[in-house]
Amino acid sequence: MFPTILDTIGNTPIITIANLNQPDEGQVLFKYERFNPGGSIKDRSAIFMIEEAEKRGLLKPGGTVIESSSGNFGISLAMIGAAKGYRVIAIVDPKTTSSNLALLKSFGAEVIVVNEKDDCGSYHKTRILLANKLAKEIKDSYRPDQCFNLLNREAHYQNTAREMIEQCGGKLTTFITAVSTGGQLGGISKYLKSFLPEVQIIGVDAMGSIIFGGEPHSYRIPGVGLGWTPHNLNLQHIDCAYKIPDEQAFLTARAFARYEGILMGPSSGACALVALKVAQNLSAEGRVVCMISDGGDRYIQTLFNDEWMKEQGFSLQVDIGTIRLMAKQLQPLKVSVPDNDNMGLDLMKYLNVPTTTLQMNEELGQ
Ligand SMILES: Cc1ncc(COP(=O)(O)O)c(C=O)c1O
Repeated sequence: MFPTILDTIGNTPIITIANLNQPDEGQVLFKYERFNPGGSIKDRSAIFMIEEAEKRGLLKPGGTVIESSSGNFGISLAMIGAAKGYRVIAIVDPKTTSSNLALLKSFGAEVIVVNEKDDCGSYHKTRILLANKLAKEIKDSYRPDQCFNLLNREAHYQNTAREMIEQCGGKLTTFITAVSTGGQLGGISKYLKSFLPEVQIIGVDAMGSIIFGGEPHSYRIPGVGLGWTPHNLNLQHIDCAYKIPDEQAFLTARAFARYEGILMGPSSGACALVALKVAQNLSAEGRVVCMISDGGDRYIQTLFNDEWMKEQGFSLQVDIGTIRLMAKQLQPLKVSVPDNDNMGLDLMKYLNVPTTTLQMNEELGQ
């Protein structure tokens, strides 16, 4: 018996793939985060950041939590706020699905939608600027600040990485996950580089995002990408990256529902495609652990809506052979570390990053 719903966060299963993965290639294992009570991996960083804030006296009973989130992190905070009695304000954007908006509201969160795009054609900077402004104005408020607070990656370093490696008995060849704030990849790669340095680490981004360089343009994959290199990510820890076009991410997620009975969102579709590619190049002893950050039921009105898919110009029909061929044709990107990397300090100044974040980062060390 669990004392509260929040005690059920973590200890998610690892599952094998029966039909899209073949026995003579590397084994693909999914770390299936849909089983968290808030439905995604973000429950882990959200509970970690909230409990650290409580321990440090930054968040007191009856306080307000303010965050910029396209959905999952906001939903996790909203669930935690409901369970612990905090007011939660989530700042989202027009890409947030109506299911996510309904979930936020059902947990009692107040939702603010920003409509102004930033200089990268995305909404991240507009959302963060507003969150930081509100945090200054609202008494007894706390900003977890998932984009800039290194506690985000610390959550995955201390919990997710250990749990996953224990479940695999320390046997893995490659680790793959999607990147936005870099919390997951930053924390898990830090852990792997310290304790299992031979594991290959792969980041997955959306075509159109510029975390790993390139030209920015808009894209449809929710929850992935950023208009700068995230503070929580150490590029030196990443062996290579893949940028996945929208249609491929959506089609792969649909294929896993149809041919494996596994629901996942588009960001996980992108990662699963890369996992199939990597497995195709490994012998049967190889093991590819791929993070499936959330479940597809969150995207019923987009990913699993044929009309919406057609409006995007995406195809609907997909079979195992097509997905496996798509995977085979993917090309990795080399990750280069810029010489003039000032850890986004200019951007942090421009966005008025809260002093609580700056102090935390000093303590945790860049
Ligand atoms: C569905 C989904 N996948 C992947 C990510 C990326 O995770 P991170 O922000 O830890 O880089 C997110 C983040 O919002 C997400 O919601």
